[in-house]
Amino acid sequence: MTVTLDLNASTILPSSCFAALCLLFLLVFCSSTVSGPTAKKPSNATQALFTLLAPTSVAWPKEYARLVTHSTSSRSKTISISMSSLINRICDGAVEIRDYADLPDLFSENLVVYGWRITLALDTAWNLQVLRWVTGSYFSWSLVDLDSVSCLPNLKRAHNTSEPKPTDDESPAAPLSFSITPNVHLDFDYLPFSCLEPSLLELRATLAPGTSATLEFTTPAPHVAFLSPQFTLCAVPFLPRRHAAPPTSNCTLPGPRARTRTATPLQASLHRILELLTTGTAALALENVSNVSRQYADGLSAAATHLEEASATRAAFIRQWGDAGWREERLMMGWEAALFSAGLLMRWVVVVRK
Ligand SMILES: *[C@@H]1O[C@H](CO)[C@@H](O)[C@H](O)[C@H]1NC(C)=O
Ligand SMILES: *[C@@H]1O[C@H](CO)[C@@H](O)[C@H](O)[C@H]1NC(C)=O
Ligand SMILES: *[C@@H]1O[C@H](CO)[C@@H](O)[C@H](O)[C@H]1NC(C)=O
Ligand SMILES: *[C@@H]1O[C@H](CO)[C@@H](O)[C@H](O)[C@H]1NC(C)=O
Ligand SMILES: *[C@@H]1O[C@H](CO)[C@@H](O)[C@H](O)[C@H]1NC(C)=O
Repeated sequence: MTVTLDLNASTILPSSCFAALCLLFLLVFCSSTVSGPTAKKPSNATQALFTLLAPTSVAWPKEYARLVTHSTSSRSKTISISMSSLINRICDGAVEIRDYADLPDLFSENLVVYGWRITLALDTAWNLQVLRWVTGSYFSWSLVDLDSVSCLPNLKRAHNTSEPKPTDDESPAAPLSFSITPNVHLDFDYLPFSCLEPSLLELRATLAPGTSATLEFTTPAPHVAFLSPQFTLCAVPFLPRRHAAPPTSNCTLPGPRARTRTATPLQASLHRILELLTTGTAALALENVSNVSRQYADGLSAAATHLEEASATRAAFIRQWGDAGWREERLMMGWEAALFSAGLLMRWVVVVRK
């Protein structure tokens, strides 16, 4: 009895299995054709773009409407946003970045929302601008068409100073004069790359015995090749501001980060800097090297949030630089922070002692 029942069961089972399988296929097939469009609705390109950017008016700017149409008709499920259009639309206030925490993923091409990959497309014009800036800032030429040029009064003062300058006060064109005071604190962001090596050698030669110097600088990550697309991405926040740029006639305006920074942060190498400081005659002793990338990124993010949310700071900035200048500054601070978070840039603090 039990044997026949078992037999029955074993013969019935495969056929019922087969039927169930057929039913399942049918269901899957039906649901994919019938309810397909409704299921896809939240995953269209508009929705994906909407998670990154928020239009400030009811309608998307025309170019983004076109971009969505274009991306939808292509099969790659990729939305490729032009970098210059993105920066321009943010500066003129047409769109906003919803969450700056998305930028590191956007920069490393890992931003996927609703099955859409969102990437930045670099334009030739930007690559050329970066090339010109890198060449110019090597010798600290003033680029004619860029609004911000180095201030001559500062330059003269820098040549004739015997006091330690606060990091805020280095003129871009003057080689730093390293003063003979303890705890010199230097930031290379404003130093032309052609001056880096002579300045380090000068520091090595002139630092008084028993004193220490703190150097703080940015370097590109080893995988960021010179003039590669990632290099262009890294250069963006260092380029002279278009909106929040100091007028050439008024050198006293202390716009936060509005002064021209050089391309040195994108070309410096930690290894080379340490080598210059700690080898040869009058070599310095290395006291500490620390990677402060995370703290630096956090500091930039906090400053950007402050610029956005502290109404007095915001109003003062807008009074000085206008709405576009304010949006640009906020974007560039967030952009720079994201470069550190994405591991494209690194920030170092090195302490040397004689
Ligand atoms: C995308 O989704 C939004 C909201 O769900 C809808 O309004 C829009 O018409 C959709 N666009 C396309 C091309 O399906
Ligand atoms: C620096 O400036 C002062 C006057 O401000 C002048 O007396 C001095 O000679 C200058 N030093 C150099 C090295 O030019
Ligand atoms: C520079 O800007 C400051 C602050 O706005 C202003 O007080 C000063 O008069 C300006 N100087 C010149 C030479 O324009
Ligand atoms: C280097 O400096 C960092 C930050 O100030 C500190 O946490 C670390 O202990 C120092 N390392 C050495 C070896 O002194
Ligand atoms: C420096 O610190 C950042 C953030 O903590 C990290 O992502 C990066 O890998 C570090 N770089 C090196 C060379 O250790």
